[in-house]
Order: sequence, then C-alpha cells, then structure tokens
Amino acid sequence: MSAPVVVETRDRITRIHLNRPEKKNALTVAMYQALADGLRGADADPSVRVVLIHGEADCFSAGNDLADFAARPDQGDDAPVAQFLRAVSTAAKPIVAAVGGPAVGIGTTMLLHCDFVYAAPDTRFQLPFVRLGLVPEAASGLLLPMIAGYQRAAELLLLGRPFSAEQALAAGIITGIVPTDKLLTHATEIAVAIAALPPTSVQLSKALMKRAMAAPVAEQMAEESRQFRAQLKSGEVKEAIAAFFEKRPADFSKF
Ligand code: COA
Repeated sequence: MSAPVVVETRDRITRIHLNRPEKKNALTVAMYQALADGLRGADADPSVRVVLIHGEADCFSAGNDLADFAARPDQGDDAPVAQFLRAVSTAAKPIVAAVGGPAVGIGTTMLLHCDFVYAAPDTRFQLPFVRLGLVPEAASGLLLPMIAGYQRAAELLLLGRPFSAEQALAAGIITGIVPTDKLLTHATEIAVAIAALPPTSVQLSKALMKRAMAAPVAEQMAEESRQFRAQLKSGEVKEAIAAFFEKRPADFSKF
C-alpha cells in the first residue's frame, strides 16, 4: 500500500501528493507530520525552487480526520498539525496548489498560505468549523476577512456551507479555475515556470509580500489553536462528530 502522503523531489520541484483517497484525503496525525517534513525538507534543500501540493483531481482533502479529532483532543504546540501550519505559513519557497473535489476545513485554510492556487470547476470548498463546534484555524480568522472582506468571511466561516470554485475565486481564495482534466498539468506548468526564475529574487519577493503579516499571522494562529483545543473537549464537538459518523444531522438544541 502506498504512503498516504507521497513526497518526491525532481527537477527542482518538491511534489507533495495527498494520497488517502479511500477517506477523501482526510488528514491524520501521520499525514500532518509527512506534510510538515516535506515542506521543511523543500525549504532546506538548495536544489528545490518550488513546492507543488495536490490530491486527486476529484478530491483534494476532507480536512482533519474526524476520528483523530475525537481520539486526540490534547494536541500541543509541537503536534504534527501545529508543525504543518508553521511550515506552510512560513515557507520560504513558493507553494503551488492544485485543488479539486472536496477541499474542507484545513483543505481550504491551508490554501490561504499558498502562493498559487488552481481549482477545478467542481471543487467544493467548505469551512465547517462552527458546524463542528470548533473555531477557525490556520489564521483563517484573520486572513479570510482580510482577503474576502468581513461580510463574505462571516458567511463562509459562521454558516460553514460548501461554496463553489467561482465563489472562492470571487473571494480571492484561489488564483484561477482550470478544467479538471488540465488541473495537474497546469499547476505543474506554473511550478516549472517558477523553477526557471532566479531563485533568490523569487524568495526575497515572496518574503516581502508576507512580511507585514508574518507576526499577526503567527499570533492569530497561536490564539486560534488555544481556543480550538479547548473547544475540541466540548460537548458541541462530541455531538457534531458523533452525528457525522452516525450519518445523521447534529442537534445543538441542548447547548
Ligand atoms: N475524517 C474521517 N473520515 C472521513 C472524513 C474526515 N474528515 N471525511 C470523509 N471521511 C470518510 C468517511 O467516513 C467515509 O468512510 P467510510 O467509507 O469508511 O464510511 C469515507 O471517508 C468517504 O467519505 P463520504 O462521506 O462517504 O464521501 P462523500 O463523497 O459522500 O463526502 C465529504 C465527502 C468530504 C463532503 C464528506 O466526507 C465530509 O463532509 N467529510 C467531513 C468533512 C469535515 O467535517 N472535515 C473536518 C473539517 S475541520
């Protein structure tokens, strides 16, 4: 059986493939660790110019594995998910993402830290944190209002309904919409183009664009993570996760 995250470096590109299709690429602790290691490895390897993250054309990621949420509510600052969020939000090299099918929770919020995000027309984004009794993560509580405007961010983050690639484009979450059969080829072409640019200039330019928000993003991430961990132990989350696995609507009327 192949690994649930496959990391390969070739031709100056580190390619990170989310590869757990039977669970819609839901991210486990081990997968976060592989993602964090892959991103840090790319930054540390002088031969690498750019990172490409993708799933399958019909499935990017169903977000955090909900069974893991239930089993491990006490994740600290060194937990693999925290390592991944630090790595993706502070990556020195550009990250290209190719997204299709479900892109739920961290499957959407990680995109706010990428530099080029291409989505298939049928991508189904969703930020279901509140529906799960949780709070936004990955600094999305800061970055989404900034990128999309407060009202749009409130609708996406508080209602937590799925939204389309067109809505994501209008909200500034993605770079462009690409036909499903050309998604990976297009994202690869962009990665190849970046890999051909002068690397120091690319990295300095990325750092200059990220510079002003670096400290606020780190601070927001720490606060979100503190509140997220506290909420993970709540009855609201227990009810939401039980409802998902029992395939029934959640009932929050008693809270
Ligand atoms: N955690 C754990 N398992 C998950 C999962 C998740 N986040 N998302 C999907 N799975 C599992 C399902 O339980 C199912 O497993 P099974 O075949 O053993 O029953 C399998 O992956 C396929 O999922 P399914 O729901 O049947 O696929 P779908 O195409 O009908 O729907 C989603 C796809 C992503 C819309 C739906 O699975 C979903 O809403 N998942 C939860 C998303 C979520 O809340 N993530 C947390 C964000 S913080």
